[in-house]
Amino acid sequence: MDRTRARPCTCASARLSPEQGRLHSLGGMTTRTLYLLCSAAPPVFDVARVIEDAQARGWDVCLGLTPTAADWLEDSLDGLAALTGYPVRSRYRKPGQPDMWPQADAVLVAPATMNTINSWAQGITSSWLIGFIAEAIGKGIALTAMPCVNNAYAQHPQFPKSLETLRQAGVRVLFGPDGFEPNAPGERRPYPWAAALDSVNGLYNERARAR
Ligand SMILES: Cc1cc2nc3c(=O)[nH]c(=O)nc-3n(C[C@H](O)[C@H](O)[C@H](O)COP(=O)(O)O)c2cc1C
Repeated sequence: MDRTRARPCTCASARLSPEQGRLHSLGGMTTRTLYLLCSAAPPVFDVARVIEDAQARGWDVCLGLTPTAADWLEDSLDGLAALTGYPVRSRYRKPGQPDMWPQADAVLVAPATMNTINSWAQGITSSWLIGFIAEAIGKGIALTAMPCVNNAYAQHPQFPKSLETLRQAGVRVLFGPDGFEPNAPGERRPYPWAAALDSVNGLYNERARAR
């Protein structure tokens, strides 16, 4: 398999124009918007299939990437934009440039690397993605994060502190038995994307009931 490309999605919408793609994902009735924000760990190559899965669950999906993840998916970015119907974002807008995305009803940060988790927890907003999710805490947006780190990274003293900081700030962190369980360095395991999407739905429904 060519690991420099997102694994292909199974629907025709990857060949549609952005506007057609948006209508496809809306199916004429969807109004819930999910920001799927990915950093540079191998499960990011599943992103087309994950977008389709989220769309099938009724989400209108906008895809954001860290600069490194955008670099990894460079050859797939046009197809991913057509699949979601929105530009793929990875950089801060220039002052005065419009925001092309609808407002987020939920955010899933996955796969979340060691770098992304620690930068987020410490508020290091030098990239657009971290800046967005740092601000999203203060805006009260429903935030779910699923790390992707091996069990050597996970033993770094900063990592559990960062998870605790994010949980205290209201982020639902899927790490451990109900989410991602760290693997040995170099070991490949399926990344539990379906559990992440289930959890996003659950959090969204909890928030909707509380309103
Ligand atoms: C092939 C490869 C696999 C990687 N897998 C992981 C991983 O699973 N978890 C992780 O935290 N970093 C992983 N990294 C390192 C990150 O890509 C690197 O720290 C990067 O700077 C993360 O940037 P980002 O958080 O801005 O995406 C991997 C790097 C490479 C080249």
